[in-house]
Amino acid sequence: MNIKPVKSFLLASLFSTTIGTSLYAQKFEELAQTPPMGWNSWNTFQTNIDEPLLKGMVDTYVSSGMKDAGYTYFVLDDGWMSMDRDKNGDLVADPKKFPNGMKEFADYVHSKGLKFGIYNCAGTKTCAGYPGTRGYEYQDARLYASWGVDYLKFDWCNTDGINAIEAYKTMNKAIRTAGRPMIFSLCEWGQHFPWRWAKDVGQLWRSTGDIGPAFSETVTRNGWKPLSVLNILDRQDSIRQYAGPGHWNDPDMLEVGNGMKFNEDKAHFSLWCMLAAPLMAGNDLRKMSAQTTAILTNKDIIALDQDPLGIEAFRYYAFDGIEIWVKPLANNELAVCFLNRSDHPQTVSYDWKDHAITDTVSKTSFDFTQTTYKLHDLWDKKDAGTTAKIFKQTIPADDVVVLRLTKE
Ligand code: GLA
Repeated sequence: MNIKPVKSFLLASLFSTTIGTSLYAQKFEELAQTPPMGWNSWNTFQTNIDEPLLKGMVDTYVSSGMKDAGYTYFVLDDGWMSMDRDKNGDLVADPKKFPNGMKEFADYVHSKGLKFGIYNCAGTKTCAGYPGTRGYEYQDARLYASWGVDYLKFDWCNTDGINAIEAYKTMNKAIRTAGRPMIFSLCEWGQHFPWRWAKDVGQLWRSTGDIGPAFSETVTRNGWKPLSVLNILDRQDSIRQYAGPGHWNDPDMLEVGNGMKFNEDKAHFSLWCMLAAPLMAGNDLRKMSAQTTAILTNKDIIALDQDPLGIEAFRYYAFDGIEIWVKPLANNELAVCFLNRSDHPQTVSYDWKDHAITDTVSKTSFDFTQTTYKLHDLWDKKDAGTTAKIFKQTIPADDVVVLRLTKE
């Protein structure tokens, strides 16, 4: 295959203006200097969560090596509360699901050296119909702070036409006022272009609707169709310039271990790390296979995600089902991900010297006629020659090869 570079910034100009950037919003600036990493209950359990199940998950989080690999947050999604607030207007953890209350559960999470996250919604009700925060922003933020919450995911159902920028700024101020540093995760599915205005409001914002456990074809879940990995991937390239330390585009939580094939899980995880995405595992950690563990705890791939430069990858090349994504890293290193999104194996034959790479966002460039780089294959965990030679490899369908380039 003869590979030529393409320019893929065509959509970027569509998003180059800013609107409504907050003059007054402030946040805890020191948080999420690299994309947050954790686990969230939604993708596997939806609202079927309770204390015994979740304590088992916390225990496995530690024993499986997830914590050692850098995952820190344990986030309860929708379904943790009672259908009604108490007589003071406070939210209450569902006593059947959490007989010892939420403070006790948060203490349990903290006792394992993890941080605790929780979910609510800017509307009158959450997406699953539990009490939303609309009108209770300061009261809810105070309650979360008293429980020791470290992370708030804030959804967008039942918002009845309210102004998204103002709604999220209000919750930002409520968190600041409550005084406990919390990562603020905006979840309005990219509907109001949060990348244009949320940098000073939260640490991450969803860029699309919900993900499902499908690589390219969409699947039906509970009567609706979530997005596939590739659907979401195709919506990230044009907004990459808005992400950086402390403020990340969020292409949604991981579906690794939730039913896709091994190579699809591996490609999904690699691409999310290339995108400097928040890494929220969403599988049942207690039943994780060795292959799933190997993917989620691949420290070399995670290191791309957590690179301190905080630059998202861009699609450097796309032709006939082969894509090349490149991510500039600190110390003038580079990650290169060859993705085969076609339905058959393909052999790439890539002459680095024909492909100088320039990135307008990080303002870095790589000219392989001037400098030779060593190649390290991050999945096969082996050296793969240098950029002085043509790189040739057959890539199965829906699979990736990920290389880290370091100067010789
Ligand atoms: C929305 C969000 C999901 C999840 C559910 C909970 O769909 O996008 O991530 O939080 O709500 O009801």
